[in-house]
Amino acid sequence: MKTILAPPTEENLARAAQFIKQGLLVGMPTETVYGLAADAGNEQAVKAIFTAKGRPQDNPLIVHISSLDMLEKLAESVPEIARRLAEAFWPGPLTMILPKSQQVSDTVTAGIGTVAVRFPSHPVAQRLIALSGCPIAAPSANLSGSPSPTRAEHVLRDMVGRIPMILDGGECQVGLESTVVSVSEDLVRVLRPGGITVDDLLTVASRVEVDGAVLHQLEAGRVAASPGMKYKHYAPKAQVTIVEGNLSAFYQYAAAHQESVTYCMVFDGEERNAPLPCITYGSKDDQRAQARELFDCLRRLDDLGAQTVFVRSPSREGVGLAVYNRLLRAAAFRVVSL
Ligand code: TXA
Ligand code: MG
Repeated sequence: MKTILAPPTEENLARAAQFIKQGLLVGMPTETVYGLAADAGNEQAVKAIFTAKGRPQDNPLIVHISSLDMLEKLAESVPEIARRLAEAFWPGPLTMILPKSQQVSDTVTAGIGTVAVRFPSHPVAQRLIALSGCPIAAPSANLSGSPSPTRAEHVLRDMVGRIPMILDGGECQVGLESTVVSVSEDLVRVLRPGGITVDDLLTVASRVEVDGAVLHQLEAGRVAASPGMKYKHYAPKAQVTIVEGNLSAFYQYAAAHQESVTYCMVFDGEERNAPLPCITYGSKDDQRAQARELFDCLRRLDDLGAQTVFVRSPSREGVGLAVYNRLLRAAAFRVVSL
């Protein structure tokens, strides 16, 4: 299959919607990462998502909407707290886990009784959903296990020959996948941290808890609240190690432990006078910049042929929690404290 990379003109959006209606998959920009979009109500199309990504069947998909009317059809019920979160953070990078209605197939939810719903803020995503006229199932548009795509070229790399079209919306603003939460009464539980932070959630909910799987490896035999959290993820081919400590200790450690092709992933400016080759991922105090650049850095490390990577540890404040969560998985939980 030929894959077209197309600017999101009204004409191309109409073509993309046509592909969706035919049960085909389209690369769709969102404010978080690019999604692999399909008609959530078309069983064959949803199955094709799993095939195109090489995604395990037991990992459910997020359903994307472009109006609150669509929500009522997907969720069996919408608790009061979810309505307040929607009002505060939708459209935007928040995904809510809700009891699923009959209309949502078990293929979308991997047989779980709940459905993940998100109302993206990216105008191209909103327009594509509206033109398609149906809720859109969309995981991140990477091959399973690779870093999520934050640019159309990343999608092209992973999906060329597998899908007919990618809408090029430029670089994603957030750069990490949405915050995923489950809700019950006044409690909001963060299953996956993202652009909507714990502090943001606390402006609406009186109690916010971060699920244990966000920062810790799941013990063998434990069931993940969010199935995606149990897979090795976001990983470049290199062996990645997060190194905590000051900059000079970091470089000393990296120099002592370097192997054939070694890179350091450091904050902006720290590459000056470095003893090893470096790439940078945003300034030290700017967690939003780190989030925006992280996945592109991980992909560039592959392009550079990196085999060993040492990463400066980010702060876990604000969006930093999401940056750290993704890095932990890229590093398969390898963290060194100096
Ligand atoms: O920002 C995003 O969320 C992007 C863009 C494209 O919207 N999408 C995305 O989808 O990251 P995906 O499939 O890569 O990640 C979805 C995550 C997985 O960790 C999955 O296990 C979890 O959401 N999830 C989906 N449905 C769930 C459910 N019913 N209960 C718990 N977790 C669920
Ligand atoms: Mg993903």
